[in-house]
Amino acid sequence: MRITMNHAKDYVGKTVQIGAWVTNKRSSGKIAFLQLRDGKVYFQGIVVKADVSADVFETAKNLSQETSVLVTGTVQEDTRSKLGYELLITDLTVLGESQGYPITPKEHGTDFLMDHRHLWLRSSRQHAIMLIRNEIIRATYEFFNKEGFIKIDSPILTGSSPEGTTELFETDYFGQPAFLSQTGQLYAEAGAMAFGKVFTFGPTFRAEKSKTRRHLTEFWMIEPEMAFVQHDESLDIQESYVKYIIKAVLDNQSYALNVLERDTTLLQKYVDEPFKRVTYDDAIALLQEKESENDYEHIEWGDDFGSPHETFVSNYYGVPTFIMNYPKAIKAFYMKPHETRDDVVVCADLIAPEGYGEIIGGSERNVDYTALKQKVEEFGLSMEDYGWYLDLSKYGSVPHSGFGLGLERAVAFISGIEHIREASPFPRMLTRLKP
Ligand code: 4AD
Ligand code: MG
Repeated sequence: MRITMNHAKDYVGKTVQIGAWVTNKRSSGKIAFLQLRDGKVYFQGIVVKADVSADVFETAKNLSQETSVLVTGTVQEDTRSKLGYELLITDLTVLGESQGYPITPKEHGTDFLMDHRHLWLRSSRQHAIMLIRNEIIRATYEFFNKEGFIKIDSPILTGSSPEGTTELFETDYFGQPAFLSQTGQLYAEAGAMAFGKVFTFGPTFRAEKSKTRRHLTEFWMIEPEMAFVQHDESLDIQESYVKYIIKAVLDNQSYALNVLERDTTLLQKYVDEPFKRVTYDDAIALLQEKESENDYEHIEWGDDFGSPHETFVSNYYGVPTFIMNYPKAIKAFYMKPHETRDDVVVCADLIAPEGYGEIIGGSERNVDYTALKQKVEEFGLSMEDYGWYLDLSKYGSVPHSGFGLGLERAVAFISGIEHIREASPFPRMLTRLKP
């Protein structure tokens, strides 16, 4: 029976076969300890000279890092290991040799590891992060399916740039300029008017010239859009959704969280305690009040937050924090103007604590055809490109709201990793297009 060792508990005392790679090895004259990985978990295989053929013991003793093997053995409990089980090997065949594997157990610099990302993914830490990423994706589909959303796919090649024209990847589309999508939102809005509640999930692109630990040039975004939903209700859904994915990771990925040494009491707190909701005005007042005791830069009403500001505000409350109603001048053209104030829009960013920054950007949408048309002009966009979008507010417009969660930001936050580059299997950044 060929198994993977994550199912070990069902096979204690039984003989199984496992396809694996050797990550490390230690041997004496009588016994060889193989550190193995089978794609699911990392575990130990033991080869006892007295119990196997001379050939098998000789092969085991000489295995090099990342050699692939097919091993047969008996599963047994091993309370000292993280997994709790090991394999007593009775037979072993080499499938693929591996000589001079570049990533050795010694420390390597980040650039070196990034250059070898195709191999680095095999390490237990990267493996754990990808398990968490996968869990968040799985839980996302589960949550939105339960809530009655359908997934619609938005195009990658577009003629629009709703999040501003400075961070665009332009490409030639049969002699006409096209852009890699910055957001699926406008298409999600069309979807919401057709199906009520929808979400898009796909790669989005920003030609970010900034080299920070929070920015990628290609990232995946989950963008729900909801007809008949106003902003407060949207915030409730955002909060339930973020709690849902954190809880799913806590419930189903304790192994990965353990590998990453994530502080799970903090994650549990984010599930149990309500998120904080403050206005932009209040956040600015708080930052100004506390500025003498902290080393972030002075901030004025009207400025956008830098990451030290976001870090301060969310850490001050100790839970994910919605900052609501930003000045209209620093937000996108499609946001709904405030009912009673001319200077702010009905929107919110969700800021994660522990320095992870903005994980969600969202708003209620402007549905007034005339006002929107004026915005398109004001923002220097063209009716040729946005006419279709304006149709949505021309034919039976309804109040609606939506938001976008950056997957890699959420992965970094929930995993507790230092830098967003490890949250993507093959990250794209200012200076990285390979591998
Ligand atoms: O705040 P943003 O720009 O909002 C939108 O794109 C809206 N159209 C979403 C919507 O309402 N449907 O981006 C949303 C989220 C951010 O909060 C952040 O998590 C992530 O996308 N994000 C990035 N993640 C990694 N690298 C970047 N360069 C990112 N830019 C935004
Ligand atoms: Mg934003």
